[in-house]
Amino acid sequence: MFYLCASIVIPKTLHIKSSYILAIESSCDDTSAAVLKDTQVCSNVVANQEIHEQYGGVVPELASRAHQQNIVPVVDQALAKANIDKKQLSAIAFTRGPGLMGSLLVGTSFAKSMALGLGIPLIEVNHMQAHILAHFIEDDAMTAPSFPFLALTISGGHTQIVQVNDHLQMTILGQTLDDAVGEAFDKSAKLLGLPYPGGPLIDKHAQAGDPTRFPFPKPKMPGLDFSFSGLKTSILYFLQKQQAADAHFIQNNLDDICASIQHTIVTILMDKIKKAVKQTGIKQIAIGGGVSANSGVRSALKQLGREKGWDVHIPKFEYCTDNAAMIGIVGHYKLRKNEFADYQVTAKARYQL
Ligand code: KG4
Ligand code: ZN
Repeated sequence: MFYLCASIVIPKTLHIKSSYILAIESSCDDTSAAVLKDTQVCSNVVANQEIHEQYGGVVPELASRAHQQNIVPVVDQALAKANIDKKQLSAIAFTRGPGLMGSLLVGTSFAKSMALGLGIPLIEVNHMQAHILAHFIEDDAMTAPSFPFLALTISGGHTQIVQVNDHLQMTILGQTLDDAVGEAFDKSAKLLGLPYPGGPLIDKHAQAGDPTRFPFPKPKMPGLDFSFSGLKTSILYFLQKQQAADAHFIQNNLDDICASIQHTIVTILMDKIKKAVKQTGIKQIAIGGGVSANSGVRSALKQLGREKGWDVHIPKFEYCTDNAAMIGIVGHYKLRKNEFADYQVTAKARYQL
């Protein structure tokens, strides 16, 4: 039995004992390549694009140009660090979407050409699925959740609660109807005059501040959906009012403002997770995405886990923000099922789970 993939013929019953996957991630402003030997990470190289800092947010055209400059050295480094030759690769996995079209196209075209050149299978990966499966990377510091579990995926582009029934079978239970939680962090930081990306800076200042000093309103969203655009507006009005009375209000109260914003966002997230557990009866919780690096989110979830007897899974920092290792782990599970993409596959900026 054979599986026909463009002009290359791949045995359908590819017998995989141990496989090396090269994974490529380029959905936003990080160019990353990783090599995985089955579920083990041999290398995970990430090139951040600092160019966006001066513009206060990601500029799509600059991001795709930077990906073009970075992709070859990043892939070279990933192979060198893993100490393997490209001829040893079993497949190439890449982020097909969701993300910025120009950025995705760089990784997609590179992965397609390389797979075609080497005559090996190509595996397309959904970025949000990858944030969830990052928990299955073999690492002493992490334990994989068992099925079914609830995943809270919180990033710069998404905020979702997902029921995960199997590695490749998941259903969205709720999601944001406007801004993503990472955007809420970054836009609030911008209002405070902090550089992009402001999420980690809010986190840093919050650790020295009083989280109850400035109470901000929480949205009344039914079910498991989220909304963060109202919070941003209320922070804007609050700052305008305070600055009218004290021009140095932000400088004099930065830690407390950051702690209060973070506390509000964390409470919104935790309230929804509690609701999702109640609705589904599932007590295995895993977080993923850039915002799962947030210290407030991590400690609130651990605390809830202890109080409520939940089994909580929190990824290592390097697997929270965008990285190719998480793309590789999805590649691993798809390779085991011979789920390959056609060489004509195209990037998909909007790509639901
Ligand atoms: O998953 P990710 O790297 O990229 C996307 O897929 O969007 O997430 C990036 C987001 C940014 O909004 C960034 O500000 C936020 O994650 N982030 C944080 C922290 N670290 C990264 N937000 C709050 N606290 C952090 N420590
Ligand atoms: Zn991401």
